[in-house]
Amino acid sequence: MTPHIVIIDDESITLKQLRRILEKEGYQVSAFSNPQRALKHIEASPCHLVISDVKMPTMNGLDLMTRVKARFPSTEVILITGYASIDGAVEATREGAFYYLEKPFTPDQVRDLVKQALTLRRTRDAASNASASGDSAFGERDFQTPVIIGESSKIREVVSIICQIAPTDCNVMITGDSGSGKELVARAIHAASKRADGPFMAFNCGALNETLIDNELFGHEKGAFTGAETRSTGLLEAAGGGTLFLDEIGEMPNSMQVKLLRVLQERELIRVGGSRPIPIDVRIVSATAVDVKAAVNGGAFRKDLYFRINVVNIKLPGLGERKKDIPLLAYHILSRLKRRGGKDISAVSQRAMALLSNYAFPGNVRELENILERAVAVCSGTVVRVCDLPPDLIEFEFQTYNPPDDQFMTLAELEQDYISHLLKINGGVRTKTAAILGIDRASLWRKMKKYGLD
Ligand SMILES: Nc1ncnc2c1ncn2[C@@H]1O[C@H](COP(=O)(O)OP(=O)(O)OP(=O)(O)O)[C@@H](O)[C@H]1O
Ligand SMILES: [Mg+2]
Repeated sequence: MTPHIVIIDDESITLKQLRRILEKEGYQVSAFSNPQRALKHIEASPCHLVISDVKMPTMNGLDLMTRVKARFPSTEVILITGYASIDGAVEATREGAFYYLEKPFTPDQVRDLVKQALTLRRTRDAASNASASGDSAFGERDFQTPVIIGESSKIREVVSIICQIAPTDCNVMITGDSGSGKELVARAIHAASKRADGPFMAFNCGALNETLIDNELFGHEKGAFTGAETRSTGLLEAAGGGTLFLDEIGEMPNSMQVKLLRVLQERELIRVGGSRPIPIDVRIVSATAVDVKAAVNGGAFRKDLYFRINVVNIKLPGLGERKKDIPLLAYHILSRLKRRGGKDISAVSQRAMALLSNYAFPGNVRELENILERAVAVCSGTVVRVCDLPPDLIEFEFQTYNPPDDQFMTLAELEQDYISHLLKINGGVRTKTAAILGIDRASLWRKMKKYGLD
């Protein structure tokens, strides 16, 4: 089905430009300069994606989005604005916008974003169907729709690779540090693949010894060993028609590597204690935090298996390398905590956010989740504040600024010194610096002028 996209902007030039870009891609496009008329149209013929300007004379883009989402929650919305601000972007994404696009934009930007938004919607639909149908692979786990949050170029690149490779049947290896989202990406690949209706099964290769791995992956026949009173199917078989996620693949013992390779080559397996080959149909998505390539070079991991499972490699950036995503992730996590029955805390104070945005997150997204879960637990109001953050994180704020030793400074000198320090570590970005200082940009600008810090 051709995706249907509704575009709304009171500026006819932008409208024409968008229409041209999108029609060239083969989408069905309806363009409106009047938001009320657009809403009527959407009501009558629901669309996949809405692209709307924010500032329009008769209705604000955010209000329009709220009304669209209230009726059609799975419709994605991209907001366009000539006046981008971090606050605006955070608010827009918190309210559910897929992206907050700044004018002027390039055709490439629009094409990429639209592709990603449409894939996200497909992924989400696929995943919610899977969980609604009570799929056993999702049943007991706290399954959430695999939505990958982030607007940094690094994470958008990951999403675009997922979009490209999910529909193919190739094996994928995901590399990334602990807590960076490897399993989430594996689930997203499954949900966007042709196998989405089949099971997703996860197995941790580092958690068990050889015999147990053998049994778990390959299953056994009745009487295969003492205690094997019934036949049992292994995960390779049980994940048939779906995806098997092999976590910590680098920990796989050598004998199991040989066995797995054979199964992937022959597309059949023999259960422990059995003799009959059983055909299998499974896609392998593996993950590792260690450098498997180095293990291959050092001889600890089989090269032939490595090539077979590493047809596509997805490298996940650490959260410290994509700090831009921290506010979005924070709001996403808060809303998830709220849905799970937590307190209704849906905002983070500016200073607390600045502190989070400057932290290195060695434990990546999982660490951010832990920090926020704790913050929500100890928070007494409705907004997460600095005092709700872990003490070592607060200490970190003070550690980063070291005034010169043995030198008494006036308040003005101290202020000047601190502002220039913050400007430096923020790469001269004033919005961010002002946010950390807890003042607005105009005040920052006045102070910079006063101290000659241009
Ligand atoms: N881009 C993202 N958007 C939303 N949530 C994310 C993102 N990345 C990670 N998460 C969340 O962070 C948590 C950790 O992610 P996940 O379990 O996928 O990491 P991992 O790399 O498998 O970690 P580990 O190496 O410790 O097993 C999960 O709750 C996941 O939903
Ligand atoms: Mg994991």
